[in-house]
Parts: sequence; C-alpha cells; structure tokens
Amino acid sequence: DLVNTKKMFQKAMEGKFAVPAYNFNNMEQLQAIVTGCAESDSPVILQVSGSARQYADPTMMPHMVKGAVAMVRKAGSKIPIALHLDHGNSFELAKDCIDSGFSSVMIDGSHLSFEENVRLTKEVVDYAHTMGVTVEGELGVLAGVEDEVSSETSHYTRPEEVQAFVEKTGADSLAISIGTSHGAHKFKLKPGEQPPSLRFDILEEIEQRLPGYPIVLHGASSVSPEHVAMINQYGGNLESAVGIPADQLRRAAKSAVCKINIDSDGRLAMTAVIRKVFSESPAEFDPRKYLGPARDELISLIKDKNKNVLGSAGKM
Ligand code: G3H
Ligand code: 13P
Ligand code: ZN
Ligand code: NA
Repeated sequence: DLVNTKKMFQKAMEGKFAVPAYNFNNMEQLQAIVTGCAESDSPVILQVSGSARQYADPTMMPHMVKGAVAMVRKAGSKIPIALHLDHGNSFELAKDCIDSGFSSVMIDGSHLSFEENVRLTKEVVDYAHTMGVTVEGELGVLAGVEDEVSSETSHYTRPEEVQAFVEKTGADSLAISIGTSHGAHKFKLKPGEQPPSLRFDILEEIEQRLPGYPIVLHGASSVSPEHVAMINQYGGNLESAVGIPADQLRRAAKSAVCKINIDSDGRLAMTAVIRKVFSESPAEFDPRKYLGPARDELISLIKDKNKNVLGSAGKM
C-alpha cells in the first residue's frame, strides 16, 4: 500500500512541516528508514537514485520495499509510505520505475535549457499521471555533485521561471536551488567560519509566485560533526566536511518546503559506527555485528530528524 506524495504534501503544507525523503540502497538502510519513521509516526518517502536502483537490482528493489512495508504494517504502523525515484535522468528510467511500482518519480532536467527541461518533464508527467504517480521537477542547478553532470555552472533557481514551468509541465512539486548542495562537503569554510545562510529571499519569492505549491529541498544533510569526528578517529579521513545547519532546515520545513532530501547524513552515521566496530573489535567478521549497530544508529538519526528538525514526527 504505497501512496503518491499528493496528500503527504497537502498535510505538510497545512501543518508547516516537511516530509523526510531518505535515500537507501540496501536492506539495513531500508529497515532503518521504515522503522525510524514508524516509531516516530512520520510519513516517509523512500528514495532511490538510478544508481542505487542498479546496485540493489531493479527487479529486486520494489520487492524489498514491499517487504519493508509489510514489516512495519505487521508491527501496527499506518504511516503513509511513498517509493520515489531520485534524480531520474530519462523518460525511459522514469517509466521503468513507474511500471515496476514506484509511486512517485523525480525527473531532473535542471541541467537542460528551460524549454528542454519543460519538454522532458511534461513527457514524464503525462505518463505518470495516467498511473496515479506524482512527479517532482527541478529548476536551478545545485553546486557540487550536479556540477559534474552539467555543462553550466551552478545557479540559483530563477523565481521568474517557476510559474511557467509548473503550468507547462503539470509537475506536482518543484526542487529548487537556494544554496544547498549534495554530499558531505557543502561549503569551503575558513577555520572558525560559519556556513552561509540559505537564500530564503529566493524561496519567499518562489512561494509568492506559486502559492500553496510544494517545494523540495535537495542536498539537505547537516553532516553531523560527531559522526565526522568518529570517522576520523577510527581511521577515516574526511577533511572539512560540513552541511546545512539544523536551524535553517527547521525554518525551511515551516515554509512551502514539503520534502527534504537526506542521503549523506545516513551514510556518515553508518560509516562512523562500522569504523568504530572494526577498530575496537578487529577480530569481528560477522556482518550482523557491524551492520546491526550501524542500522541502530541510522534509526536514531532518523527519529531525531523527524522530531527535532523536519517536524514530521506524529504527523502521519
Ligand atoms: O542526489 C543524489 C543522492 O545522494 C544519491 O546519489 O546514489 O547516485 O550516489 P547516488
Ligand atoms: P545530501 O547529500 O545532502 O544528503 O542530499 C541528498 C539528496 O539531495 C538526494 O537527492
Ligand atoms: Zn538530490
Ligand atoms: Na513545509
């Protein structure tokens, strides 16, 4: 019983919170996400990139999700759960996901010209809507990872383009670029320097032009200094990793931002714990002995985000 994001976003808009979209590619991450969200009574978007889908296997992926949903339903949870393609880069990939049971897809034409982005996004929307699947589009190019698939340099979303994009495509939500970026190195800071503020002025202009319309924030990991320190303490080497401060995400969650994407924070949490186990118990070779504690850490992280940052806990 997966659902699309329509009602989730309506509730998020009315209740001034954001629905978490957690990325995963394996069983432990998936179990942690549904467990953490079930235990905090939070709606959740299970988010899979094209490469994560390939990693888990495109055929196996929807079955994993079915199993995870059955697991929390058996435990009595009724939270709304969506399965969403992250950063879809072609009509064929989006269609494949829709046909295999995804309830929501992103088509990311943000690196294309406005006209090409509209054309590709509309093509996906026209198919998705016949299947009851919701579609996320994107305008503006985030700094960081997306730079590498882009010939342009990163740029903020242009508020004057958003209305025409939504009208022409029929997209159900819009990802925007207001200063976040993907990965664990979001800003180059000098020692002691604080991360710059997100461009809330751009967000507000977008909200004025699209009243009541769901906005999506990518690249929204906070990059916990505790996890980074643990990784470095136990043999890792993550220099100058830095993310989006939680208070800025809290502010975003109260706005028209209805979906906040988190991948790196989960990766860091699991890696920190696995490194600690490896370092403290070098004779350990049962995967359950390191993947189990890593899964527990991810559950804690998710419950904390839902309750203290996104405000989605108790909002199912
Ligand atoms: O925005 C991208 C996500 O963080 C996942 O990326 O699975 O392709 O590494 P990846
Ligand atoms: P982070 O790298 O900040 O977790 O962003 C994830 C994301 O936007 C997935 O689409
Ligand atoms: Zn993203
Ligand atoms: Na919100």
